[in-house]
Amino acid sequence: MHRVCISSTGLYTPPHVISNAELVDTFNRYAELENTANAAEIAAGTRTAVPSSSVEFIEKASGIQQRYVLEKAGVLDPTRMRPNFTPRPDTDISQMAEIAVLAARDALQRTGKKPADIDGVICAAANMQRAYPAMAIEIQHALGIAGFGFDMNVACSSATFAIDMATNAIKSGAARAVLIVNPEITSPHLAWKDRDCHFIFGDVCTAILLERLTEAPAGVFEILGTRLVTSFSNAIRNNAGFMSRSEDRNPEDRDQLFYQEGRKVFKEVCPMAAAHIGGHLAALDLTPTDVRRFWLHQANLAMNQLIGRKLLGHDATADIAPVILNEFANTASAGSIIAFHRHHADFLKDEIGVICSFGAGYSIGSAVLRRT
Ligand SMILES: CC(C)(COP(=O)(O)OP(=O)(O)OC[C@H]1O[C@@H](n2cnc3c(N)ncnc32)[C@H](O)[C@@H]1OP(=O)(O)O)[C@@H](O)C(=O)NCCC(=O)NCCS
Repeated sequence: MHRVCISSTGLYTPPHVISNAELVDTFNRYAELENTANAAEIAAGTRTAVPSSSVEFIEKASGIQQRYVLEKAGVLDPTRMRPNFTPRPDTDISQMAEIAVLAARDALQRTGKKPADIDGVICAAANMQRAYPAMAIEIQHALGIAGFGFDMNVACSSATFAIDMATNAIKSGAARAVLIVNPEITSPHLAWKDRDCHFIFGDVCTAILLERLTEAPAGVFEILGTRLVTSFSNAIRNNAGFMSRSEDRNPEDRDQLFYQEGRKVFKEVCPMAAAHIGGHLAALDLTPTDVRRFWLHQANLAMNQLIGRKLLGHDATADIAPVILNEFANTASAGSIIAFHRHHADFLKDEIGVICSFGAGYSIGSAVLRRT
C-alpha cells in the first residue's frame, strides 16, 4: 500500500464580480417589473407580490458579500435573470473543461509535475454540462494525460468524495498520481428570481493533485484518512435531468433549478458534520484540539461557526476555520478546497488539518491531513 498526499492545488477565478448591492438592485428592479405587470391580480389578492431583497439580510443571514461569475450581463438584466452563454461547436473545448484546464495548469505549475506523471483525471462537480463524453476525458485530452478520466457528482461533496476515490486508486497502486478538478459553474442552475436563494452561489474551479508520498517533496500534505457518509434528504434538490424533456418541462420551472429548505438544512447538517469530523478524528486517535485548521465547506458563515463551536466548545477563529465565502459565495464542492488552497502555507511540519464538505444528498466527506 502506498502512502498518499495532496502535493498541489490550483484555482481559477472567473473575471466578473457581482456585489450584493448590484445583485439586490437587479432583483428589486425585477420585482418591480413583475409587480407592475401583475398589479391587478396582486390588488385582487389572487397573486402574491414579489418581495424585495436586501443587502443587510444577505450579509447577516449568510456572510456572503460578493460572488464571481463567468457571465455577468445576463444575470444583472432584470428581464433575463440568468447568465448568457453562447453555445460552442463540438470542435471547441467546453466551458467546464476550459476552466478546469486553467485550474489544473495552476496546480501543475506549482509542483513541476508533468502530465506524463499523472494516470487519471476525475472531474468532480455538482453539475455536469453534458451527459457524455465525460468532461474528465476532454480535460485529460486537453492536458495530454494518459490513463483514465471520469466524471462524478456528489453535489457539494463532489471534491471530498473524489479525494477519497483518488486516494484509494493511488494507495492500491492503480495510479501513481490523480488530478481532480472541480469546475463549479453554479450560475446557470441558480434561481436568480427567488429572493430566498438568489445570493447563494458563485462560479469557480479548483484543482487538486494527489500522488504517492514517496514521489513528492517535503512540505506536502499526507492524507491520514478519508471518510464519507450519505443520508437521503429532499431538503436540497434540483430535478433537471434527461427526463425533463419527456416530461414536457419548462427549464424555468422552479424545480428544474436549485431549491432548498435553508433553515432545515442548517439545523440538520451542522450536527451531522460536527459528529462526522469528531468521529473521523477519533478513528485516527486524534481530537478536535489536535487540529491546527478546519477547511470547511463554504455555504454559510453561521453554519461554520456552529460546527466550530460543536467541535471545540468555543468559537473557532478565522485562523482555525478560515472563511472564503464572503468573497466567493457558495461554490459547491470547490469551497473547502479554496479554503485549503488559500490557507495552508503557514502550516508547520506535522500539524494536522481537516477538509470537510457537506451538502445535498445529504453528503459529507472529510480528509484528515498532516503536513510533511
Ligand atoms: C439560506 C439561508 C442563508 C437563509 O437564512 P435564514 O436565516 O435561514 O433565513 P430564512 O429563510 O429563515 O428567512 C428569514 C426571513 O428573511 C426573509 N428573506 C429571505 N431572503 C431574503 C432576502 N434576500 N432579502 C430580505 N429578506 C429575505 C424570509 O422571507 C424570512 O422572512 P419571514 O421571517 O417574514 O418569513 C440559510 O438558511 C442557509 O444558509 N442555510 C443553509 C444553506 C445551505 O448550506 N445550503 C446548501 C446549499 S448546497
